[in-house]
Amino acid sequence: MNTVDNNRKLLMEQSVPGRVGTVLPDLDVPEQPLPGQELLRDEVDLPEITEPEIVRYFTNLSRMNFSIDTHFYPLGSCTMKYNPKINDEAAFLPGFAAIHPQQPVGQVQGALELMHHLQNYLAEITGMAATSLASLAGAQGELCGILMIQKYHRDRGDGDRLKMLVPDSAHGTNPASAAMAGFRVVSIPTDENGNCDLEALKKEATPDLAGMMITLPSTLGLFDPTIVEVNRLIHEAGGLVYADGANMNALLGRVKMGDLGFDVMHLNLHKTFSTPHGGGGPGAGPVCAQPNLQPYLAAPVVEKRAEEGPERFVLSTPEKTIGKVSASHGNFGVLVRAYTYIRTLGDAGLKLVSENAVLNANYILAKLKDKYLLPFDRPCMHEVVLSANWQKAKGVRGLETAKRLLDYGFHAPTMYFPLTVDEALLIEPTETESKETLDEFIEAMRAIDQEATENPELVQNAPHTLPVRRLNEAQAARRPDLRWERKE
Ligand SMILES: Cc1ncc(COP(=O)(O)O)c(C=O)c1O
Repeated sequence: MNTVDNNRKLLMEQSVPGRVGTVLPDLDVPEQPLPGQELLRDEVDLPEITEPEIVRYFTNLSRMNFSIDTHFYPLGSCTMKYNPKINDEAAFLPGFAAIHPQQPVGQVQGALELMHHLQNYLAEITGMAATSLASLAGAQGELCGILMIQKYHRDRGDGDRLKMLVPDSAHGTNPASAAMAGFRVVSIPTDENGNCDLEALKKEATPDLAGMMITLPSTLGLFDPTIVEVNRLIHEAGGLVYADGANMNALLGRVKMGDLGFDVMHLNLHKTFSTPHGGGGPGAGPVCAQPNLQPYLAAPVVEKRAEEGPERFVLSTPEKTIGKVSASHGNFGVLVRAYTYIRTLGDAGLKLVSENAVLNANYILAKLKDKYLLPFDRPCMHEVVLSANWQKAKGVRGLETAKRLLDYGFHAPTMYFPLTVDEALLIEPTETESKETLDEFIEAMRAIDQEATENPELVQNAPHTLPVRRLNEAQAARRPDLRWERKE
C-alpha cells in the first residue's frame, strides 16, 4: 500500500493489536498502582501502531493542507504573508517562552523592556501618542477603541452621542464592534469611485454622532483620497474617528494615521507584523491613541521609570482606563515576533514592505483586468478586488473559480467579500511573493477564464485533484464529524 492510500485510512484503521511505536526503558523505581482504578476504562480504543507508520500518517496528513510554507496564499483581507522563521526563534528563547505572566516585574525586566520598545515603535509607525498591547485580536482592539470613545464622551457629559458611522466598505468586524459597545450603527455608502460618499456622510453629522470607524485602505483595497476631509467633518460634528489599521501592510513607512486626523486605531500584528495565523489565532490587536484618548487605553501599559534599578520597567494602569481586556499583559509571543520583525527590517525595510505589497497587487490587477471585471478602474493598494461576473454569465461562479484554483496549486482568494461587489474575488498577494509566483497565479486565473468558456463543467466540478472534492461547508462547520467509532 502506498503512502497516499495509507493516508486515506484513518489512524485507528491502521491499528494492529500488539504493535508499539516506542520502547520504554526498564523501571528504575518501584512500580506504583495507578490511583483510582475505578476511573480507568478498558474499552477505550487507542491506536496500536509503529513509529514510522505514525510519522508517515501525520506527515502525509499535514501535506494535504495548504499553508504559506507550501503554497501561494492570496486570501484577501488576511495578509497571509511569509513569516520569517527568525521571529519564531526569538519567541522560543527560554527567557521569553518560559516566563510566567504572574512573575514579579523585577524578574521579567527584559520582557517588559521589549514591550516598552514595541509600544513606542507602534506609536511612531502610526503617528499616535501611546500604545496598549493588551488586546488579543484585531476585533478586540476595535472594541477597546470604541469603548474608549464612548468613555471619552461620557466623561465630558456627552453620553447621548450614541451613533457610530461605518462605511459599507469597512471590515465586517467594525459594525459588529460598534454594536457590541452599544452604539447605533449607521452605514455610509461608497460613491461611484469607491470612496466614502461625502454627501451621505454630511447628512449623518448630527449632534448624536459619537464617531466613525474607517477601514483604511478599505476592504475594496482602495485608499480614500478624501480621508482628511472625512475626518474633519466628523470632528466638526463633535465625533471622534477610529481607524481600522489592520491593512497597514499597504501604508507602512509611508502614511501615519495620526497625521490623517484619526484619534484611535488598532493594528493587526498577526497580519502586518508577521505571525503565523489562521483558524482564529494567535493574534494581537494593539491600540494606539492620540493624547485625548491616551488616558483611556486598556491596562496594563509598560512604563519606564527614570531611575535605574531592578524595577526600571513597570506595569501601569492609564488614569481613565477602560479596564483590563485580557488575563495577562497581551499575547506575548506575538509581541516578540512583531518586535523582531520591526528590528530586523528597520525603517527602510518597513517601507519596502508597503512598496512591494502595493506593487504586487497592482501587477495582478493590470494582468487580469481584461479577463475579470474590475469594479473600480483605478490603482489599488495591497489587495485587489476583481469580480467573476463575466464568468458567471458563462455559468461559472466565483466560488467555482476559487475551487479550480486549488487544482492549480493555489490557495483560493477571499470570495464574496466585500459584500458590495457582486461575485467578488479579493486577492491579496502580499509583498513576500516573487514575480514568478505571481505570473504562475495570473496564468492559472487566465486559464480558468478560458476553461469557463470552453469547458465550464470542468470548473463547475472543481476541485479534481485534491484528497477531498466539494465539501458541505455549512455541515462541516455546524456538525463536524471528529470522533472515530469502531464499526462492528
Ligand atoms: C481590515 C480588518 N479589520 C479587522 C480584522 C479583524 O481582526 P481579527 O481577526 O484579528 O479579529 C481583520 C481580520 O483579518 C481585518 O482584515
